[in-house]
Amino acid sequence: MKSLHHFLQDNKTYLNTNFEGVLHIMDSIQKASIIISKKVRKAGLLNITGEAGATNVQGESQKKLDIIANDIFIEALTTSGYCCGIASEENDDILIIDSKNGQYLVCMDPLDGSSNIDVNVSIGTIFSIYKKLDENTPVTVDDFLQKGNKQLAAGYVLYGSSTMMVFTSGNGVNGFTYDSDKNDFYLSNPNMNSPKNGTIYSLNQGNFIEFPIGVQNYIHYCQEKDKESNRPYSLRYIGSLVADFHRNLQKGGIFIYPPTAKTPNGKLRLLYECNPMAFIAEQSGGKAFTHNQRILDIKPTEIHQRVSLFIGSSEMVNKALDFVKEY
Ligand code: AHG
Ligand code: MN
Ligand code: MN
Repeated sequence: MKSLHHFLQDNKTYLNTNFEGVLHIMDSIQKASIIISKKVRKAGLLNITGEAGATNVQGESQKKLDIIANDIFIEALTTSGYCCGIASEENDDILIIDSKNGQYLVCMDPLDGSSNIDVNVSIGTIFSIYKKLDENTPVTVDDFLQKGNKQLAAGYVLYGSSTMMVFTSGNGVNGFTYDSDKNDFYLSNPNMNSPKNGTIYSLNQGNFIEFPIGVQNYIHYCQEKDKESNRPYSLRYIGSLVADFHRNLQKGGIFIYPPTAKTPNGKLRLLYECNPMAFIAEQSGGKAFTHNQRILDIKPTEIHQRVSLFIGSSEMVNKALDFVKEY
């Protein structure tokens, strides 16, 4: 079986002139995720569960592993020699890295699903790779405010029953499983395709009364008895976007994070959650929209911008958007 590094090397074409940079950055991301995977799998013994006692710019309390994962990725990307800037969920502002070949930017959620760390439920890492707008000028925040359709590559690592890296650079989606005996990722799920339809809907039903009426009506549609369309669907919600998305990618399904009273623009962040997942969704034949706009077409206005998210099997997303459009 082909390792991730060799898979990338053998597929230079679709990365063309950016191949060198993406390959080095992917090498550093996978090295960092292996370190994190090993820590996650014995977190209880390392005294790295629980709160770090600080809050991030999102106003969310940071877990110890949020900060540890963030530091590990920053260290790995800094030493890659090709990364010139990072936008991280855990840092208020962009991090500028002085590097001789640095033409590439990384947006990342170092640890997604933090609320699940202490209860031994799947968590993940999400990342996006862009090229700097102008190779002759210093990095600024504008370099990070590119539309998601400018991503060179995107991926997530799922620290689940196995550790998997799911990755795209615009030529389909491929899944790699970490082999702890060989300490490397190997191609296990070539050419992943999102089922057009499915019978799983995934959202935090606890917020039902705060959801827009169109979303409430879509939920009722999912719950109706209709043999022909295999309804009622099943509600599955893990609370880690990476895990909910990955299940839907394999089995078919829709994940929705709509606006709520607490998060009127939606909770999930455009740069390092919605855009990378939208790139993967579309590359696998799925769909990713806010209530009325293709995620990858949104022009970001700030690095921690939040948007609503309807993502997964294309026919399910279309159906949900029909309900949302009506109101
Ligand atoms: P993070 O841990 O990086 O802040 O992300 C958590 C996100 C996402 O992973 C998940 O789908 C969502 O928050 C769950 O939110 P609720 O607990 O509000 O349902
Ligand atoms: Mn997250
Ligand atoms: Mn996070």
